[in-house]
Amino acid sequence: MSSQSSGVPHHIAIVMDGNGRWATRRFLPRVAGHKQGVESLRRCVKACVDRGVGVLTVFAFSSENWNRPVEEVSGLMDLMVIALGREVPKLTQDGVRLHFIGERGGLSDKIAAGLIQAETATAHNTRLVLNVCFNYGGRWDIARAAAQLAARGEPLTEANLDAAMALSHVPDPDLFVRTGGEQRLSNFLLWQSAYAELFFSDRLWPEFDEAALDEAIEAFRRRERRFGQTSAQVAGGERRDPQAA
Ligand code: IPE
Ligand code: IPE
Ligand code: MG
Repeated sequence: MSSQSSGVPHHIAIVMDGNGRWATRRFLPRVAGHKQGVESLRRCVKACVDRGVGVLTVFAFSSENWNRPVEEVSGLMDLMVIALGREVPKLTQDGVRLHFIGERGGLSDKIAAGLIQAETATAHNTRLVLNVCFNYGGRWDIARAAAQLAARGEPLTEANLDAAMALSHVPDPDLFVRTGGEQRLSNFLLWQSAYAELFFSDRLWPEFDEAALDEAIEAFRRRERRFGQTSAQVAGGERRDPQAA
């Protein structure tokens, strides 16, 4: 059964928030929470593969997270290097294709090389597309796409912008999840989430397990996506996904 016909969202986007609070509550340094966050991501990726989700896009480091204390930022960068080394072989085996989304200019040579290596190693995989947004911001994405079009002398149409955006290789997210209890977007997928269903979980990211994911998917199943139409039109099967226009 395809993910669509089973009611499972094809593309899930997640703001993985709450690592710092998870650690602080345990009297641990914040970086310990980020380490636990990597474990939680591994579990979530597997759960998405098992449930037939096609695309998972996660927010790992925002354009604004550079404003955190220096030791937390360097801890997060170190963790990225460690995670690349440890996780990529397993992801390769599990059929996961990795894409890193974000500004690479500000990253160290080591990380930048690691991202390319991981993308190349998993390029043949087809079970799940995993987009890791790292040094990413929704405004960065839109501005960069507009600048690319301007440089090429192309008109700034919706279709052209869409094609120039960082997630042009996948359809828009169906379900947008944020853990950690905050109900805001924090500059994640501003353009792409135009018609995503929003789900806010009070669980901190390290505690977001399979049951929590199923709760989000179940909430999604109960939503009626109208894409601007009326309920009667949707019930009559006239549904028109704006992306399919
Ligand atoms: C999200 O967890 C991970 C990153 C932003 C890198 P936080 O570190 O924001 O955790 P809280 O929100 O402070 O608990
Ligand atoms: C969003 O979380 C970024 C990531 C999860 C990577 P933040 O913790 O940075 O968001 P704010 O600052 O609470 O809005
Ligand atoms: Mg946070």
